[in-house]
Amino acid sequence: MRSTQLSRVCSLLALACIAIAAAPAQKSSLPPPVNFTAEQDQQNMMQQLGIQVLRPGPSGNESAPNHANYDESKANPWPNIPDALTLSDGQKVTTPATWWDQRRPQIVHDFEEYVYGFVPPHVPRVRWAVQATDHENIGGHPVLAKKLIGRVDNSSYPLISVNIRMTLVTPADAKGPVPVLIMFGPSSFPAPNEPSPDEMDRINAAEKALLVKQDPSLAQVFEQHQAWEPERLPPFEFPHFNEDGDPPSTWELIAAGWGFATLDPASVQADNGAGLTRGIIGLVNHGQPRTPDQWGALRAWAWGASRGLDYLQTDPAVDGKHVGIEGVSRFGKAALVTMAFDRRFAMVLVGSSGKGGATLLRRNFGEAVESLTGGEYYWMAGNFMKYGAGKATFGSMNASDIPVDSNELIALCAPRLTFISYGMPSKGDAKWLDQQGSFMATVAASPVWTLLGAPGLSFSNTDYHTAQMPPVNDGLLGGKLAWRQDDGGHTDWPNMKYFIQWVDKFIGYGAPQS
Ligand code: GCU
Repeated sequence: MRSTQLSRVCSLLALACIAIAAAPAQKSSLPPPVNFTAEQDQQNMMQQLGIQVLRPGPSGNESAPNHANYDESKANPWPNIPDALTLSDGQKVTTPATWWDQRRPQIVHDFEEYVYGFVPPHVPRVRWAVQATDHENIGGHPVLAKKLIGRVDNSSYPLISVNIRMTLVTPADAKGPVPVLIMFGPSSFPAPNEPSPDEMDRINAAEKALLVKQDPSLAQVFEQHQAWEPERLPPFEFPHFNEDGDPPSTWELIAAGWGFATLDPASVQADNGAGLTRGIIGLVNHGQPRTPDQWGALRAWAWGASRGLDYLQTDPAVDGKHVGIEGVSRFGKAALVTMAFDRRFAMVLVGSSGKGGATLLRRNFGEAVESLTGGEYYWMAGNFMKYGAGKATFGSMNASDIPVDSNELIALCAPRLTFISYGMPSKGDAKWLDQQGSFMATVAASPVWTLLGAPGLSFSNTDYHTAQMPPVNDGLLGGKLAWRQDDGGHTDWPNMKYFIQWVDKFIGYGAPQS
């Protein structure tokens, strides 16, 4: 009897060994991911495109000889930008139907083909799972926090795994589903519910007992240092308030009866060119470099946010019709791209997004198209690099050759709630970001809201050529397209309370009175 059991165990073990041995054999039949540096990857794309030389981007250092232009009189070398409401055959768009059926698809296509890249067909499915749930407290409000993981099916190429990290936090006392803002950034439990002092005592007693079991001489050490405990709770930290006296944005959202979800862009796609043969872009390409019309990191991050929204629309705590997206800087660009391409998002807060985001590609002020085709090339489609080409089989191209501009990217968000936010250069929201160029793009996008029957930007000068941004803290919040430059730095934090109130007004949502 015993020996039969033993032999069964042995044969099971043998089977397991065969299975373990077979797994790497199966994996090794697949070519491993290409290991390029960012420079090698960029060179590879230049070869695919027939580019020999890229024009260098300007320096951000104002005392460098090749520094960026900050002279307004030289900022508009191509003063006329493509019109969102003119079809590619030159006809004017005068009805919503023409916008939805013809013009919008043209603009979407051009941004995909030439700027941000296409999401390849058949991107594998994402399966969401709740990993842990925690009852927490945010700014005095009880919340429910869920740590989620979105596993991308990698059965076609198991050498790359992509697991999207998202944490959803909703007010525990909500009377019904709440609006939720997805925020691009690191994702973890915001205020982990720590063990009580009694529980800590029990944990420490158990740990000490285990240590003594391992090494009985430690009993004497513990005896001599009775105040020492193996585990300690992190010390209490006062929350940071900004110069306007605002608590953290997440506190403001919860206090207003909203939820928020932090989504980690790095868990979707790395923020560097060397990572393009990995992450979701690499997984779809089975570890090979991109082709010129495929997505760059901005579109991949936006895709990740859309998958986050897929989950949120299934969670009963969330009002799936009122989910927004937020990000600052490169993630401000990603937030705008997310909103532009995925019409299920109801609102966006675009923080300090600059070139590749809200500011005009045709402007020559601060960061240039050549910056986006240089060190930042991986944010964009390979095809975008053509506009920085100094010497290529097709000659040379520049910003004026791009078939679209950022006013049209903003226009793709119409008639939904779109808030373009900046801070002040003197506080660190660099001139490099070209706040004025972003304002011009916002003004130029506004007629699309009007065409669709929604209030656009509440600003009297409708000519983007001459429209000057309003003073700092003078928000244009009357329409569904909003602008506000706050008195903070490279952050959208001081604008968060204005954003929440502005959205609440339009969606008819009020903070629960508690
Ligand atoms: C650089 C870059 C910008 C970007 C910013 C950031 O300044 O040129 O395009 O927005 O970094 O993301 O921090």
